[in-house]
Formats: sequence, structure tokens, C-alpha cells
Amino acid sequence: MILDFGGGFFLRRATTADHPALAMICLKTGDAGKDASSREDDPELLGLLYTIPYQVLEPELAFIIDSPAGAAGYLLGAADTAAFNASLASDWYPDLQRRVADPGPDSSRWRGSDRARHRVHHPDFAVPTALAAYPSHGHIDLLPQARGKGIGRRAMAFLEQRLAASGSTGVHLEVMPENNDALKFYKAIGFEVVQDPEPAKQSVYVGKRLANTAEAAS
Ligand SMILES: CC(C)(COP(=O)(O)OP(=O)(O)OC[C@H]1O[C@@H](n2cnc3c(N)ncnc32)[C@H](O)[C@@H]1OP(=O)(O)O)[C@@H](O)C(=O)NCCC(=O)NCCS
Repeated sequence: MILDFGGGFFLRRATTADHPALAMICLKTGDAGKDASSREDDPELLGLLYTIPYQVLEPELAFIIDSPAGAAGYLLGAADTAAFNASLASDWYPDLQRRVADPGPDSSRWRGSDRARHRVHHPDFAVPTALAAYPSHGHIDLLPQARGKGIGRRAMAFLEQRLAASGSTGVHLEVMPENNDALKFYKAIGFEVVQDPEPAKQSVYVGKRLANTAEAAS
């Protein structure tokens, strides 16, 4: 156990045995924070795109929020987003692309998990220039039973500490614009919306500067 949140909820390092939980929680929060189960016909694919690679490629920053009833959330990070995306491109996507069929370019014909399948074959690894001050990024998703207890705030503070200790000067998160609850949460914990002068994606980015505690410690 790394952090005890009380009430049987705690944070621990994620392992390969947690891949099904990482996929399940990603699915249950995959529709802008809400359950995407009824939309997706492949229940694993969102996890294979958005959560499991963190445990594989950056295991020091991959954590599960556990509970008496089992995994109830995850906290994931990448210290250097550009380097992480390069690893995704070279070490993760090629295998996924062999296993998943491309649904083609016509989005009007997409069904079920086809948007995710399209993403597998047309990934966007570019990091917007507006995020230069926030080189790290993170993801946090909690199942309903873990929400509203201060776990998100404490978990994010922990991730920020870990990133700052590794020398990071800033962290960002990508939020679906319709996820107002998450935007309010990030604002409450000190993140600001990062204005992108050339918005290439339909996401909102929130960012926070970090005091580089690695320098202070050396
Ligand atoms: C968003 C999420 C991570 C927040 O975690 P949480 O543990 O529920 O939040 P906390 O209890 O730690 O709340 C921290 C602060 O954020 C505020 N906050 C959290 N959710 C909020 C909401 N829906 N509306 C307004 N404020 C909110 C709290 O009021 C609290 O502020 P305070 O400490 O000043 O009182 C969690 O609710 C979640 O996983 N939601 C579903 C998935 C999701 O949307 N993830 C983010 C994807 S980008």
C-alpha cells in the first residue's frame, strides 16, 4: 500500500495482473467520465488504447485505487509525454494494429468500438505546442463508489509529487469538453485550462506547473 485513503480505499502500484481492471475501469468511465459499456462492442479496446500501455511502458507511474470490493480506479502518468508517445508508436501500436481491423474512413458507417478501431490505425502522437510548459501528463478515473471522498485530490497530489521529484516542471491532462464534472475537479485542485492557439483536437487541456523538487533535493 502506498497511500491509505481510509474506508478500505488505498493506492498501490499497478501490475500486469491489473490489465483487466485497467480495461474495465476505462470502459466504465470511457464516455466523458460516464459508462461506455453500452456503446463499445469490444470491452477491452479502450483499455488497450488508453490505460494498459501506461502499466507496460511507464510502470513506476501506474497505480490502482483499490477497495474492499476490488479495483475502483486508476492513476496513470507519463513523465515525458513526447518520449511516452514515441514509445507508444514504436512498441505498442504496431501489435495493436495487427490485431484490430481498420473500420475505414467513413465515420457515418462506424458502429460500436469502430471509433476506437479507427484510432488504433490513425493515432495522433503530436503534442500541442501550447503544452510545452507541461511536459508530463496523467489520467485519473474512479468508479462511482470511489468518487466524492477526496481520493481524486489526494491521488493527484501524489502524482504531482512523484513527477516533481523526477524533475518535471509541469503536468497536463486531456479532458473531453463535455466532462464538466472533471473540469470542475481539476479547477478545484489548482489546474488551469491551457489555451491552445491552434486547437487540433476536440479536447480541453488542463495544466499545472510543478516546483522541480529534484533540483532542490540534489
Ligand atoms: C473526476 C474525479 C477524478 C474526481 O475525483 P473525486 O475523488 O471524486 O474528487 P474529490 O472528492 O477528491 O474532490 C476534489 C475537489 O474537486 C471538487 N469536485 C470533484 N468533483 C466535482 C464535481 N463533479 N463538481 C464540482 N466539484 C467537484 C470537489 O468539490 C473537491 O473540492 P474541495 O476539496 O475544494 O471540496 C472522479 O470523480 C472521477 O473519476 N470521475 C469519473 C471519471 C472522470 O471523469 N475522470 C476524469 C477524466 S479527464
